[in-house]
Amino acid sequence: MSDNQNAQDSKTTATKVAVVTGSAVGLGNAIAKRLAHDGFKVVIHDINEDNLKKAEKELTDAGFDVSAVVGNVLKRDDQFKLAKHAVDTFGRLDVFVNNAGVESVAPFLEIEESEIDRVFDINIKGVIFGTQAAAEQMKNQDGIGKIINACSIAGHEGYEMLSLYCASKFAVRAFTYATAKELAKYDIRVNAYCPGVADTSMWERIDQAFVEHKGYEPKQAWNEFTSGILAGRPQQPNDVANLVSFLASEDSDYITGQTILTDGGMVFR
Ligand SMILES: NC(=O)c1ccc[n+]([C@@H]2O[C@H](COP(=O)([O-])OP(=O)(O)OC[C@H]3O[C@@H](n4cnc5c(N)ncnc54)[C@H](O)[C@@H]3O)[C@@H](O)[C@H]2O)c1
Repeated sequence: MSDNQNAQDSKTTATKVAVVTGSAVGLGNAIAKRLAHDGFKVVIHDINEDNLKKAEKELTDAGFDVSAVVGNVLKRDDQFKLAKHAVDTFGRLDVFVNNAGVESVAPFLEIEESEIDRVFDINIKGVIFGTQAAAEQMKNQDGIGKIINACSIAGHEGYEMLSLYCASKFAVRAFTYATAKELAKYDIRVNAYCPGVADTSMWERIDQAFVEHKGYEPKQAWNEFTSGILAGRPQQPNDVANLVSFLASEDSDYITGQTILTDGGMVFR
């Protein structure tokens, strides 16, 4: 079915509204597209205005009801403006995907304080502010609200050269558990998706960092990380979007406080 046909079908039933942070490219972009296909009105969001405009045009040209907001997840005001924008534009807020995140790849002993601040500001503070902004809106609405966080295999397992990133994703996992408990009384579900090794610009940068720090050949780190995947191939962004689609849907209404791995068979929990 074409995007346009799908958009027409979706629009007739669309009542729910989703926000996806960091959705100009990569996993967030695949998630935004999938939720639009699923019938959501979608607010896309990113710190990179040029890429965001391209993503907005692509979705609008396909006939979907989307709106774009430039913002920085580590700024509390930006996150509250983002949630308000969803309500002002589309009338409500049902799903908030805390997707934006950054990698950090370095030998542990070389990590500087500024890098710790950068990674925790985006990966943790960003998720905390996004959750606050979403929950403030959702608790005053009817229906079930869904907050969905980007975790990782690195939120379940420690990896050499990725200690800071792992620490930030373990924190996302703990935060997901705690907020699921605290927000349950408002009928808000909080879950997380934990991708494995997905083919996005983030992994291009991770691969390059292994070249710089460990003397690897280009693609060597990518090949090492992906060679043992039981599904027999690296992850594509749509593999992740499939899980988020489920977590955003009514089919997952009885699930909360879960951090679900989608990695093709790498980490078993
Ligand atoms: N790619 C993977 O293999 C993988 C695996 C596990 C988890 N993840 C997680 O999934 C999420 C998306 O990863 P990706 O691979 O698509 O990354 P990516 O770097 O390809 O894209 C991330 C997007 O987020 C935006 N962004 C970055 N900082 C931001 C900020 N402060 N405010 C707003 N937007 C910001 C970027 O501009 C970019 O458009 C991240 O949280 C990442 O940690 C990725």
